[in-house]
Amino acid sequence: MRKAIAPGFTTRALKAQETHVQRYVNLLVDRLSGVIDSSAGKASVIDIGPWFNFTTFDILGDLAFGESFDCLHSSTYHPWVEILFSAAKAATWIAAVRFYPRVYSLLFKLIPPSLKKMSQDHFNHVVERVKRRMNYEMDREDLMSPVLKEDAKHKMSLQEINGSFMTLVVAGSETSATVLTGLMNHLVHQPQYLKRLEVEVRGLGQGGAHEVTLDSLRQLEWLNAVLTEALRLCTPVPWILPRRVPASGAVVAGVGLPGRTRVSIQAYTMNRDPANWHRADEFLPERWLPDAHKPESEFYRDRRESLQPFSVGSRACIGLHLAWAEMRLIMTRLIRAFDFEEVEGERLVWESLRTFALVEKKQDPV
Ligand code: HEM
Repeated sequence: MRKAIAPGFTTRALKAQETHVQRYVNLLVDRLSGVIDSSAGKASVIDIGPWFNFTTFDILGDLAFGESFDCLHSSTYHPWVEILFSAAKAATWIAAVRFYPRVYSLLFKLIPPSLKKMSQDHFNHVVERVKRRMNYEMDREDLMSPVLKEDAKHKMSLQEINGSFMTLVVAGSETSATVLTGLMNHLVHQPQYLKRLEVEVRGLGQGGAHEVTLDSLRQLEWLNAVLTEALRLCTPVPWILPRRVPASGAVVAGVGLPGRTRVSIQAYTMNRDPANWHRADEFLPERWLPDAHKPESEFYRDRRESLQPFSVGSRACIGLHLAWAEMRLIMTRLIRAFDFEEVEGERLVWESLRTFALVEKKQDPV
């Protein structure tokens, strides 16, 4: 299945997708300009988190199905996006109760029916979108085009397409939005870092939006540093990635394990382990600058290779380049267009957020 969707994730494909990504980021800036009260020096209070979600979901909807979710247009969540988190919650519960086969049916009954229904509704919506997309010809390539080609080398059944595109839209939208939310949360509370980003991205070309291309952003040192640090502290896939040892057994991290043993690494723990990172819990993008590699740097001993937010190996994230492109572009365009600052008393304490496969970006009432 991965091979079947892979043509949609090549560098060439990303180049063709740029126009569409740019279109939604323009729309984000326009829509935000519209809701901001810009009367004489007045600041507007905006919860920026949902806007990141609106943008990444609209982009993925367009790239995957040829139609956006229209979140930006309506400045609100599409009902499908709205129940996404409940669907993720239900899936997490179901995955958890499977660990107890003897009492599975009893535990399954304890999962609130409303949650199970939301999960089913969520899936049905994808099925509907896939069906619609299969019934018309696109005048451009989207992520589904290679899958639907008559002569596709790797064929997928309808069930596989439904399941894969469900995963794709969630994996490709909620993740980038989480990193952007985490990054903005840090930047407004550490204004010296925000200032430095403003100087860098506002220094790009004078010709407005058109000069901010995906290519031109790739080399921006500070933009890359703040995003990488956000991927470390606010990693959107913080949980265990489940794997099994092959039937013949294997040595994992120096320990001999019998076949079929479950093994896993949890990103959250790796990313905050003081054995890997100097001042592990602090947001310090300097650790990603070239100077950090010099022996006199306080970050010299950081084990930078232990940060693998997109995982490694044959099942690593297929959307890595698209994710970087979106995150760089959205952050740059916003910082160029607006002055951001913290709203007193509003701060996400990331360590206290709950995780149901995805990070719930909502502060629990204390
Ligand atoms: C900051 C953004 C993102 C992060 C941190 C991220 C992270 C990850 C991680 C850790 C995995 C491996 C899961 C595992 O091994 O079980 C993964 C898989 C995957 N990601 Fe991403 N992802 C991001 C964005 C995206 C985007 C934009 C797309 C697509 C548009 C995408 C599509 C996928 C898919 C399809 C898989 C499954 C690959 C497979 O099983 O072969 N991701 N992602």
